[in-house]
Formats: sequence, structure tokens, C-alpha cells
Amino acid sequence: MFGNAEAYEHYMGRWSRVVAPRLVHFAGLPDRGRILDVGCGTGSLAFAIAERKRHAHVVGIDSSKEYVAYASSRNPFPDQVAFAVGDAQQLEFADATFDAIVSSLAINFIPDTKKALLELRRVTKPGGNLSAAVWDYGAGMQMLRIFWDAAVRIDPEAGPLDENRMPLCREGELSTLWRQAGLEDVHEQPIDMTMTFASFADYWDPFLLGQGPAGAYVRRLEPDKLPILREEIKHRLSLSSEDAPVVLPARVWSVRGVVPG
Ligand SMILES: C[S@@+](CC[C@H](N)C(=O)[O-])C[C@H]1O[C@@H](n2cnc3c(N)ncnc32)[C@H](O)[C@@H]1O
Repeated sequence: MFGNAEAYEHYMGRWSRVVAPRLVHFAGLPDRGRILDVGCGTGSLAFAIAERKRHAHVVGIDSSKEYVAYASSRNPFPDQVAFAVGDAQQLEFADATFDAIVSSLAINFIPDTKKALLELRRVTKPGGNLSAAVWDYGAGMQMLRIFWDAAVRIDPEAGPLDENRMPLCREGELSTLWRQAGLEDVHEQPIDMTMTFASFADYWDPFLLGQGPAGAYVRRLEPDKLPILREEIKHRLSLSSEDAPVVLPARVWSVRGVVPG
């Protein structure tokens, strides 16, 4: 589902770069100290933190070796940012290592989020912030909503794969998890943005790269169904021409909470 870093950049990494500065702002990160980026992928959040917090040190961890290698090879802040392969459910850091932790578009992909959150809490200093953001797959993230609504319309087998079934993507779910993990001063809010694709091809072609649940679905789709899906999506986008820009709203749910002292 994940693993090809170049393909991920074309598919979602470019939108992660739009989310990242907004999440940095929301997370209320300290100006100094050590900050952990969990599920760092190709590095967009770690780089956005480093750019805005010039006296902070950032560690990005991800379970994908390829993403970590890609992020490391493109690191514009080698003195400030380091990447490592790691599993959020079993971190190799000592207790209270980090002043703050933040995670962008990743927490919903971790198999045992409760276990991961206890680990994140363990490695954060008392009083430190723990923040995350997840796409609103059910409604607000139109790039994927239109894709899955079209897929389900032409293929009944797509239903169970629809990303709206993902955990933590609805209002209130992240804050419930944060409170269950014992975090204090929990605050959740949507962050809204606009995705502008230069043309229909700019919207559609990245789905053919096999990334994320939608890309994995396209790879498995019978070849004769692919043009049908493409037409159904075009119809739902109500495009005047394939060359016209595609402008879609997008929303993430973001949450922050404080590790108790
Ligand atoms: C949708 S990507 C988001 C990547 C990046 N944060 C971004 O905003 O582009 C989800 C990431 O979570 C990572 N991931 C999934 N399970 C993980 C785990 N248990 N520990 C660490 N990373 C994990 C994946 O490898 C992938 O890079």
C-alpha cells in the first residue's frame, strides 16, 4: 500500500506539504527541544517543523525503510532533522525523551493505535503536547470521497475497501482516543484547505501509482473496469473539459493534548 516514495509524493505527499504547516501551527510546538514526527513518510512534516522551529531538533520515524531513505536523502536540515525506521507501537526511545510529538495523516494506519498512543505518551516529557491529524475520509476529503463513491457505484466489491471505514477519521474520534490515553486539555478541530489539480489527468493519474488504499484498489481492479471508473469519476466532477482545473475542498481532523505531570 505504501513504499514507493516517488509515487507517494505524486499521490499524497504534495498534499501532506499543505497540511504540515497548518498542523505545526495547531500543535503549539515548543521553539526548542526534541520533537518526534510519527509516521513521517517522505518527511514533509519534519521539514515544516524544522523550517518554523529553528532551535528544535526533529526525529522522524516510519515503519517504511524506503520512505525513511527517501526523506533522509532529501533532508534540507541535516543538523536539525534525523530520520529512522521505527514502529510507533514499540518505540526504542527512553521515557520522556521528547518535548512534543506530532503525527500527520498516519495514526489511522497504525494497527494498534491504543498501544501506539501509550508509547507516544511514555516517550513524551510531562507537560509536553501530543498532536495528530487524520483526513476526514467520510465527507470532507473530496479527492478520496469522489473516488470511493464512484468505485462503489461501479463495483459492489469496493464497499468494504472505502477509506471512510478507516478508524479515527470522524469528528470526535481522535479526541476520544486522546482522552482514553489519559491526555489532558484535549482539543480537537477541523483544518480545512483546498486541493487544486491542474487538470483531470493531474487528479486521476496519481491513483494509477498503487499508493494508499485507493491506489491498491486500482491495481487490483479488472482492466475492463478501469475506464468505467475513470468515466464515473469524471461525471461526478462535472468537468467542462479534461483540461480544466479540478478544485476540491479537503479537511483533516486534528487533535492535541498534554501529557500529565
Ligand atoms: C499516509 S502516510 C503519511 C506520511 C506522512 N506523515 C505524510 O504526511 O505524508 C502514513 C505513514 O504511516 C506509516 N506507518 C504505518 N504504520 C506505522 C507504524 N506502526 N509505525 C510507524 N509508521 C507507520 C506508513 O509507513 C506511512 O509512511
